[in-house]
Amino acid sequence: MKVNCLYFSPTGGTKRVMDFMAEELPVDCWVDLSVRDFDYSQFSFDEKDVCLIAVPSYGGRVPGIVLERLRSMQVRGARAVLVAVYGNRHYDDTLLELRNEAVSSGFVVRAAVAALAEHSIVRQYAAGRPDEEDRKQLHELARKIKSSLEAEGECAQVSGADSEEEDEREPLIPGNMPYREYHGVPVKPKAGKACNKCGKCAQLCPVGAIPKDEPGSVEEEKCISCMRCVSVCPQHARKVNPIIIMATAKKLKNVCSERKENELFIGSQQ
Ligand SMILES: Cc1cc2nc3c(=O)[nH]c(=O)nc-3n(C[C@H](O)[C@H](O)[C@H](O)COP(=O)(O)O)c2cc1C
Repeated sequence: MKVNCLYFSPTGGTKRVMDFMAEELPVDCWVDLSVRDFDYSQFSFDEKDVCLIAVPSYGGRVPGIVLERLRSMQVRGARAVLVAVYGNRHYDDTLLELRNEAVSSGFVVRAAVAALAEHSIVRQYAAGRPDEEDRKQLHELARKIKSSLEAEGECAQVSGADSEEEDEREPLIPGNMPYREYHGVPVKPKAGKACNKCGKCAQLCPVGAIPKDEPGSVEEEKCISCMRCVSVCPQHARKVNPIIIMATAKKLKNVCSERKENELFIGSQQ
């Protein structure tokens, strides 16, 4: 089996989770879903492929740009392991939405993981995560997923899998429909005086919200508040309004303060 990791990780938390999982479930091919103007339709995956699809949860949903990029790929029966990474509030319907999209693109879903990483807007929540304790948990989850995928591969070779067996192997994935409503957040980073117009933020913005010829500004209607520009700016010039962050932190205090743990959802292993 060839293991591919398709990931969207504007500030690196989702990628760190996947790096830890990959220490036990080695990845052959990494596909960064945050590259603007890249032709993702050149990717095709079939029964020989396993795709780990990893996304941050935004408002309990899958970031829309990820869905667009996944939809353009050619998929025929590749097995998927879904990973939703969240900042200690909740992932709500992220895994269910990702599951439904993956299935309609042609994947068969074999496992799902909800994992923790530092909240990329309100950084005091899940600060420093994934940490060493997470790493151990993610290793354990990855080992279970790997042995289940390998067992299924061997079983299919001996008997030839039929569709009913395949259904039983799909895990029950948490979430509700209609999905939680999410219309973005009013947090649009702006460049301060320290900006020297190097253009790194414009180059790396996943949605092209920062004009290349005017990197100090932002096209607010395009910005998805992913915080990549804040995290990549060498001058630390891009910032979000601290009053909004403080108000958001206060609002989230009750739901975010207690440490949450990584979870695995896996189908029946025959
Ligand atoms: C726009 C936005 C919305 C978010 N919404 C949620 C949320 O609903 N629940 C949650 O627990 N964390 C939420 N987070 C935190 C991220 O899911 C978390 O920090 C994730 O690790 C970011 O991934 P990255 O580091 O790969 O960019 C949100 C972050 C952003 C930027």
